Amino acid sequence: MSIETKQRKPRISAYFKTLGIKDCKSKRGFWKHVTGVDSVLAEELEPLICRKKKGNIYEVKNGTLPFSLAVESWTKSFHKSFLTWINQQKQLKPQRILEIGCDNGLLACWYATRFPDAEIIGIDQSGNGIRCAKELAKQLGLTNVSFYRIDFMDLREHFLLNSFDLIISVRAFHEIMGPLFFPKYWSLPDYLKENPTYGDSKYLQIVDDLLTEDGTYLSCERLENPADVGKWANSLSQANLQVQWDDCDIIDYHELGANKRSPIIVATKRQTGIITLEGMEHLYTKDHPIVLESGKCYSGAKAEFAYHRLGEKTFKSGHYLDVPNHWHMFRFEIWETSSFLIVYNYGNMGHRHLDILSAGAYLEAQLLIEEAKEKSSHLGPIV
Ligand SMILES: C[S@@+](CC[C@H](N)C(=O)[O-])C[C@H]1O[C@@H](n2cnc3c(N)ncnc32)[C@H](O)[C@@H]1O
Repeated sequence: MSIETKQRKPRISAYFKTLGIKDCKSKRGFWKHVTGVDSVLAEELEPLICRKKKGNIYEVKNGTLPFSLAVESWTKSFHKSFLTWINQQKQLKPQRILEIGCDNGLLACWYATRFPDAEIIGIDQSGNGIRCAKELAKQLGLTNVSFYRIDFMDLREHFLLNSFDLIISVRAFHEIMGPLFFPKYWSLPDYLKENPTYGDSKYLQIVDDLLTEDGTYLSCERLENPADVGKWANSLSQANLQVQWDDCDIIDYHELGANKRSPIIVATKRQTGIITLEGMEHLYTKDHPIVLESGKCYSGAKAEFAYHRLGEKTFKSGHYLDVPNHWHMFRFEIWETSSFLIVYNYGNMGHRHLDILSAGAYLEAQLLIEEAKEKSSHLGPIV
């Protein structure tokens, strides 16, 4: 019955409100807020976040629970979107959840509320993070969640193999696996042919070892562009974890006023027979399938998938922009197929925009190129 369900289902907004987590729309607002909560810790944190000084961000940001929750205002929108997505997954009925890199326990405590019959375990290498997490669980009166200070690499020494039916990691693996470099690429298929995975499979093998045979691994990692998503999917597969592309999603959120998107990757041990590029196209186009006809335009990953789907083409003309003192480069190109003229503006950092015009629409194509060049001209000379 709906009233009963409504009463039982905890609300995410209320959760953030109870914890006094503010929504900050700018960096200035964020620093004002955290300084108001603890000026000493804020002063210590600022040079670490701005990379003016080296040190352990997590030990400082988790100096006290109130300060840790104030800092959370940076990622509030992201975490809210992620938890909203979790709430919508009616098929999730976990009995034992492991959260990798749980930090101050904000997400794990939500899982404990959302899945009251499950046992939740959060692990992190940060001592202060785990201290805050335990304090948060106590403050919320939760008895089905526990936190441990453990390095990810040592997890198999602490927990039985195949003992978690849901494993979750949110923005943890870019730190666990060491610095992961931003992929530079012009063509996704070519890039993934040369760089299929993140290399060493020992990390994700640990996830596979701890997961039950029919368990689910949910990751919402820092996969900044489609090349990262492809590498992540291939790395999972190398560790016997297959991406279930139908169940994956992309969440929208804002970070201090800037709109952002992040993929949620769902993996299990069940074979799918779907190759990575096929699965990725499904993920990036499932809300709006690609239609190859004149007048259509696409951005981001969709543009690249549309470009490849257009098949054989002839290069007509092009310009490029090499951003001075930076590795960013842009290309502005016109291509021709038997049916269309294509204007393709793309960058080596993942930027993509594609316009499909009718065959012979050279003037329109030139105008679009000029428009795109003008938008980017402040970045450097176009040749
Ligand atoms: C970017 S934070 C993300 C925290 C949290 N999942 C979130 O979404 O806000 C990364 C977390 O991973 C933890 N971490 C990094 N390397 C780790 C390791 N080798 N073992 C356990 N935790 C680790 C850090 O201490 C930190 O709490």
